[in-house]
Amino acid sequence: MDDLRQWPEPVVPVQSLSDGGLTSIPEKYVKPPSDRPSLEATLDRGLTMPVVDLRGIYDGSVDSRAAMVAIWDACKEWGFFQVINHGVRPDLVEEMKGVWREFFRRPLDEKQRYANSPATYEGYGSRVGVEKGAVLDWGDYYFLHLLPLSIKSHDRHWPARPSTLRCVTEEYGGEVFKLCGVLLRVLSMGLGLDEEYLRRAFGGDGTASCVRVNLYPKCPQPELTLGLSPHSDPGGLTVLLADDHVEGLQVRKDGAWLTVRPVPGAFIVNVADQIEVISNGIYKSVDHRVIANSKDERLSIAFFYNPEGDVAIGPAPELLTPQLPPLYPCITFNEHRMYVRKRGPSGKSQMKSLKLY
Ligand code: OGA
Ligand code: NI
Repeated sequence: MDDLRQWPEPVVPVQSLSDGGLTSIPEKYVKPPSDRPSLEATLDRGLTMPVVDLRGIYDGSVDSRAAMVAIWDACKEWGFFQVINHGVRPDLVEEMKGVWREFFRRPLDEKQRYANSPATYEGYGSRVGVEKGAVLDWGDYYFLHLLPLSIKSHDRHWPARPSTLRCVTEEYGGEVFKLCGVLLRVLSMGLGLDEEYLRRAFGGDGTASCVRVNLYPKCPQPELTLGLSPHSDPGGLTVLLADDHVEGLQVRKDGAWLTVRPVPGAFIVNVADQIEVISNGIYKSVDHRVIANSKDERLSIAFFYNPEGDVAIGPAPELLTPQLPPLYPCITFNEHRMYVRKRGPSGKSQMKSLKLY
């Protein structure tokens, strides 16, 4: 039985290694050759991730149909799309990046007061998974819960400094949560279901949300490691605020890794496992990873819109026919997430192991 109370080895913040001016990375970050970001696996074949303008959806104009169709197609073919005119104020987005950059610049001992454990992952951390001797990723992160309110704890788990961090993160989280509500309605309609379907399946008012702020420090040997190993996100929907200037996210498309070019001011949205399950595979939760970089540090902020932890989630019965049987069993999000919490990022291996056909 894996112990989820503590890390199997002392955790070293990657930022402290990077700031120390290393010229080579320690052994435990060196991936086996097959997992390294090789050039031929990242060919840019001229494909670009769909960019959807949400203005039509917000003002209810005739453009809204085109935007919805673009989202449905993107969720089926890519599992990913970018959104512009998404309704979150640009100055709030900038403030959010600013407070978290500032947090990561604070002294190490201050950050380590918030050091996390694998029991809940909340706080400042540098690894996911509790397998002793695992090869680690070149990144640090801060993870916190916004909803449900019963588990949100400013005092225990949210940085006290910079002083505006808590209120900016609250406001940003509230706005992105609203955006997810809109997207969930669009996704429900694309399945021919009523627009509240997905929200209800997620537990309605019990829907959860959390934020993971990722810091990928400069890496002297980016060709040997990864900032974040391949994974699909376990929850419902993810809204990523990526660095406008530093690329790093790669998405698996038709078997190859494609580097995402973030559109300034856009969010990158992706379908996560629970929506793949409810849609019975119509919408795809796609593998993605982050490559490391020797020249620039990179910051990204992932907002996760998740089902209530103990609601059973399975394929929507309305979508099933004798020709289209359920592809996944019904399990709770808490059970599903436990897999990642023990093993760390491991591609789509969990979804594959759950698959019934
Ligand atoms: C994540 C994630 C991508 C990035 O946090 O789940 O996939 O670009 N992040 O940091
Ligand atoms: Ni992810």
